[in-house]
Amino acid sequence: MKIVTIIGARPQIIKAAALSRAIRNNFKKEIKEIIIHTGQHYDENMSQVFFDELGIPEPNYNLNIGSGLHGKQTAGMISGIEEILLKEKPDYIVLYGDTNSTLAGAVAASKIHIPIVHIEAGLRSFNKSMPEEINRIMADHASTLLFSPTKTGLQNLIKEGFNPDNKAPFTADHPGIFHCGDVMYDNSLYFSEIADNKSTIMEDISLNGNSFFLGTVHRDNNTDKPKRLNALFEAFDEITRSAEIPLVLPLHPRTAKLLQKNLRPELYEKINKNSLIQLIKPVSFLDMIKLEKNCRMIFTDSGGVQKESYFFKKPAIILRPETEWKEIVQQGCGIIADADKENIINAYTYFSKESEKLQFPPIFGNGKAAEFILTTMLENR
Ligand code: UD1
Ligand code: UDP
Repeated sequence: MKIVTIIGARPQIIKAAALSRAIRNNFKKEIKEIIIHTGQHYDENMSQVFFDELGIPEPNYNLNIGSGLHGKQTAGMISGIEEILLKEKPDYIVLYGDTNSTLAGAVAASKIHIPIVHIEAGLRSFNKSMPEEINRIMADHASTLLFSPTKTGLQNLIKEGFNPDNKAPFTADHPGIFHCGDVMYDNSLYFSEIADNKSTIMEDISLNGNSFFLGTVHRDNNTDKPKRLNALFEAFDEITRSAEIPLVLPLHPRTAKLLQKNLRPELYEKINKNSLIQLIKPVSFLDMIKLEKNCRMIFTDSGGVQKESYFFKKPAIILRPETEWKEIVQQGCGIIADADKENIINAYTYFSKESEKLQFPPIFGNGKAAEFILTTMLENR
């Protein structure tokens, strides 16, 4: 079986590690994987670092599309992916998540009838102002095999008309939907001990276990809207000062570029002078896992980081108006605080008192989602 995998943004490169590892370990003879990197993310610490660290084969193709407006960026990817698909003629194209690279892969493959496998299918925020919501709906509805990491994801697909009783042979008009667990959980389990042994981030930035907070901010809705970005950083400033605990923020380049422009000058200065707010460059995956495992609490608008908070049993304060990962909130381990200063501070106060009582039952599978996905693909080729 020949598959073409599309990656482009940081989380997709990380997710792809789980499937590539499962192919290498269990399906070396049966599956040949060709990797196309769209080049959506390109900085060393947003892309190459993950290949170096996670054992992902170097991409067979890099389209080097880079950053740009949605239309131009996605169109460039569609055209590049189409050309390669016509040449490689794979049995499947494999798409991850909800980025513009995902959408481009879906459009290119569906028009030339290459069956699409969508990993992380069925996730919905029910907020179509998010570019990701459009990307994931369109990718799901063009797919032949849809793998959902959560039961909620599967239910969302059923509500949109997907039939869970469909039997093989599957096609884009008669798709198969599966609940399979999360490839990110596969990765977190696999790399957890490796991170303990290899990452030196704690020493590098002088941190001790359980005595710092971790945060990430990168959603366009937060970075590009000054009111929201100011509210987030006001909350970070107030919480770090009152708790006298540092907050480590590995800043996505999008956020790093917009901080000075979109924060009020007094707040920007205050943040720079607050030695408890440690703004650092994006870190490698092993470093990120090490930080997640050792921090006290996580503030994030990232999908992946929300889940990793749960995997590593840390409370998550979700800096968005809603989440696709409803289970985390239902379980009481995440609080949706949006970009609202008071909500963030209240969520922090609550978790400061209650975090010892939180329970994190396994809801993201058994760490073998990648094997399940590959076996299902082989059975339905
Ligand atoms: C993209 C995804 C988002 C995902 C995120 C993961 C879309 C629409 N969005 O958002 O779903 O959560 O990746 O991180 O696909 N930049 C750099 N260097 C890089 C990459 C980006 O400087 O290597 C800067 C550029 O200024 C760029 C901006 O970040 O314009 C945004 O990058 P882009 O890939 O368009 O979107 P993300 O915000 O990264
Ligand atoms: N991540 C990382 N280094 C960082 C920040 C995040 O390796 O500095 C990892 C994180 O552990 C998770 C993934 O990147 O696996 C999440 O990606 P991101 O937040 O960019 O996107 P999202 O998941 O929101 O689409």
